[in-house]
Amino acid sequence: MDVYEAIGRRRDVRAEFTGAPLDEETLHRVLSAAHAAPSVGMTQPWDFVLVRDPGTRAEFHRHVHTERARFAAGLSGERAATFDRIKIDGILESTLSVVVGYDPERGSPAVLGRHAIADAGLYSVCLAIQNLWLAATAEGLGVGWVSFYREEFLRDLLGMPAHVRPVAWLCLGPVAGLREVPDLERHGWRSRMPLAEVIHEEKYTPKD
Ligand SMILES: Cc1cc2nc3c(=O)[nH]c(=O)nc-3n(C[C@H](O)[C@H](O)[C@H](O)COP(=O)(O)O)c2cc1C
Repeated sequence: MDVYEAIGRRRDVRAEFTGAPLDEETLHRVLSAAHAAPSVGMTQPWDFVLVRDPGTRAEFHRHVHTERARFAAGLSGERAATFDRIKIDGILESTLSVVVGYDPERGSPAVLGRHAIADAGLYSVCLAIQNLWLAATAEGLGVGWVSFYREEFLRDLLGMPAHVRPVAWLCLGPVAGLREVPDLERHGWRSRMPLAEVIHEEKYTPKD
């Protein structure tokens, strides 16, 4: 699979996880791809916590569903009805979870390229996540990003130090297949915009 094909086939997966075992070599290749990402000042400020324990996952799942209910409580009418039909995680069904942390202290204080933009460290972690996502797609696996959580809860659950920020809970594993259309689009929550809407020539031109 070439990179464009992997980009095109990548999906956020919730319902299609089979829970089948994932061999360690494949997992290692996917994590190596994440670890090969570019990073500000070469800090590689990410950590990957592999969560396989059903008890930990069940506890996180309960928390996510409390947060889901909190979000749902702010919706009404068509939005509420549409959201009601959307599955937001595959925490229990996937083979394992990879929680990605951001350690701003790694390589600090003189982080080359971060003096003016503190978020550059966070950007680096997101690039590692995207590498992981594309590599998993190329391996025929699925990934689902779960962000319905309070950072403090997840930090405590996994024993992360106070300065490490949990950036993503990623569900990972074999899937029955990858859908062609993103779930949120299928359910009528929101559709992809045409590329032309986000391209600006020379200066930023507000659209509508
Ligand atoms: C930062 C981030 C957080 C996300 N959080 C969730 C989430 O909590 N639950 C969920 O179902 N999808 C989550 N997603 C997946 C998006 O909904 C998904 O990427 C988007 O709808 C486009 O679909 P696609 O990834 O299949 O192309 C998240 C994606 C990103 C990048």
